[in-house]
Amino acid sequence: VSLKPYNTFGIEATARYFVEVSNIEQLQSILQNPEYQSIERLILGGGSNLLLTKDFEGLVIKIAIKGIEKIKEDAQHIWLNVGAGEVWHDLVMYCVDHDYAGIENLSLIPGTVGAAPMQNIGAYGIEIKEVFESLEAIEIKTGKSRIFTKDECAFGYRESIFKHAVKGEYVIVNVRFKLNKTPVYHVEYGAIKDTLAERGIENLSIKAISDAVISIRQSKLPNPAEIGNAGSFFKNPEIPKAQFDVLKEKYPTIPSYPVNETTVKVPAGWLIEQAGWKGQRFGNIGVHAKQALVLVNFGDGKGNDIKELSQKIQDSIKEKFGIQLHAEVNFV
Ligand code: EPU
Repeated sequence: VSLKPYNTFGIEATARYFVEVSNIEQLQSILQNPEYQSIERLILGGGSNLLLTKDFEGLVIKIAIKGIEKIKEDAQHIWLNVGAGEVWHDLVMYCVDHDYAGIENLSLIPGTVGAAPMQNIGAYGIEIKEVFESLEAIEIKTGKSRIFTKDECAFGYRESIFKHAVKGEYVIVNVRFKLNKTPVYHVEYGAIKDTLAERGIENLSIKAISDAVISIRQSKLPNPAEIGNAGSFFKNPEIPKAQFDVLKEKYPTIPSYPVNETTVKVPAGWLIEQAGWKGQRFGNIGVHAKQALVLVNFGDGKGNDIKELSQKIQDSIKEKFGIQLHAEVNFV
């Protein structure tokens, strides 16, 4: 089976076996099937944070568990249970339409609801952990269901327990969100403020914020339907404040966000642009011209070529700035 339609990078690679599951029982029975016990398995959501570097000799399980269900409500909040296979942006649009506030800043992020907690997706001042209540996951080894509370998920910047302590052990099947009836607007992010001002918006609404985010993303980030990509390829590195101060003397315009008293986060996109990579094209692959943090596949690009390019970029940033970049994308 070709995996090209199932990864936003648009990489041509095949899976030996492929199955799509639309409910938990189906998933459990596949996980328990003795025939598949000994082969490697890859769980796929929207395939938007994935770089396929070779054909996959095992079983790919595409999670297509659907459903948005309102399970409870009080004066302030709404609780939704959402199937892991729902498209993330469809959930955002559903919430905007129903006036459920909290994820409007996360408009147009590619991928599925089930993949979102894995890396605690975030953009424009908000992370999913702020509206996350719990999730249900199936243990691959036993087929048993387990609830993970927010604390248990150990969310960090693009991090969760699912990338560390229990990596590869669970399949997320649904996610419970706690949304607000009274919105708390997050417009600190410069680009949002500017867009709202340009549009002359005085009365804020979650719809106005969502629209602003959509237009910012469309102006900077390539649409995976047109140019293959997986969003930010690297995480923004965190470096010691002392190291930052030295860099700042040499590069006075270097942007930064404080993490705590001793640590600063630096935008990888800026570093990559300064090192001369922005807009560079190498045959079928390259570095996006409007956002250097995004690597792109213009056509028949190979996963391995993108991996090699990413290593060259890492080496060059290490050499120029003494900073090690780490991939945000998962390599398979
Ligand atoms: N910058 C450059 N050159 C570039 C790109 C960025 O100089 O080519 C500078 C910008 O001028 C700005 C700063 O870097 O001063 C930050 O840029 P931007 O606002 O585009 O955000 P980012 O830090 O590059 C992060 C997330 C994005 C998220 C945006 C908005 C990570 C790894 N990436 O990017 O998330 O949409 O902030 O909040 O944290 C993703 O994870 O896939 C993703 C797209």
